[in-house]
Amino acid sequence: MSIILGIDTSCDDTAAAVVENGTKVISNIVSTQTEIHTKYGGIVPELASRKHIEMIWPVVDEALKAASMKLDDLSGVAVCHGPGLIGSLLVGCSFAKALCYSKGIPFLSVNHLEGHIFSVLLEASKPLFPFLALIVSGGHTCLYRVDGFGAYHELGRTRDDAAGEAYDKVSKLLGLGYPGGPIIEKIAQEGNPKAIDFPRAYLPESLDFSFSGLKTAVLNFVKRNELGIVGKDIPHITNHALLNDIAASFQASVIDVLVRKTEWAIKKECIKHVVLTGGVAANRALRKRMREMGDEKKAEVFIPSPSFCTDNAAMIASAGYHHFKAEVFAGLDLNPKAYIPL
Ligand code: KG4
Ligand code: ZN
Repeated sequence: MSIILGIDTSCDDTAAAVVENGTKVISNIVSTQTEIHTKYGGIVPELASRKHIEMIWPVVDEALKAASMKLDDLSGVAVCHGPGLIGSLLVGCSFAKALCYSKGIPFLSVNHLEGHIFSVLLEASKPLFPFLALIVSGGHTCLYRVDGFGAYHELGRTRDDAAGEAYDKVSKLLGLGYPGGPIIEKIAQEGNPKAIDFPRAYLPESLDFSFSGLKTAVLNFVKRNELGIVGKDIPHITNHALLNDIAASFQASVIDVLVRKTEWAIKKECIKHVVLTGGVAANRALRKRMREMGDEKKAEVFIPSPSFCTDNAAMIASAGYHHFKAEVFAGLDLNPKAYIPL
């Protein structure tokens, strides 16, 4: 039996989890910093890394206690070494290295995107290789063909904003707050997704994505309709029905593109197992539409539960377990990187 402690401090959440044999989550703790960053309308990297320093030990301690385990019970420690905010990554990596050095156990480094893909292995129903994986988060929107552990072939990626970034930016320009995804999802439920015909960047013949035009279209709509002076001060849109319609129409555009591109990839690659993951995959409307498309195309769609879609450390432990099994250990001289390909 292998017990892996996973750690993720890539962005604004301090996360630690204990996972058995790569699939059984024994504990999963996430300490969010939303409250700190909300008043700035987005993540302030310096504040994020300071908070990680404060929280890393309490969060790891809580994960061990919740799993009724001690440091001596660990087979190895898996940590996310990038991509992410460099100051934040440094905290998790330094902590994991110190732990591995002092206990003499393997140090396992996991790419954050690899973690997102293998979050699906934490669920009872698992895809078979090769499968397609669409990662939609705040920092990434990419589509991969996953041929096996460590065998990732990129099929497409965003050329500008990530889908989650578009949610966050649109929420900010509408004066709705941070993080934008859950806020927009909530009010979109009350709106009409066909009310405003926002653009869909399908980029014919390509599996790449583009969401910055959509963000600009929402901005122009707000300006054109004199709903507020965007960028100077937060618009106060008092017409709630209109706000709901903007949110619903924006979300419809994002979902249409994500689902259509996945459909193209299924056809192009002739692969019938599809994984949807990353923070935006917590969105109920997207989950529903992706499942409906899967039914239509006779493809099996695997979507981790929402708490495994958003940033967490169980996914890092899950991917780290496969490094452990293959004896792919990282050196203690490994440095985290803000940008690393999968
Ligand atoms: O994967 P994640 O937790 O962190 C990154 O790796 O970026 O994703 C965070 C992103 C944020 O942009 C957030 O607004 C978005 O996921 N998000 C959502 C929802 N929950 C989180 N977007 C749409 N609907 C949601 N329910
Ligand atoms: Zn993430």
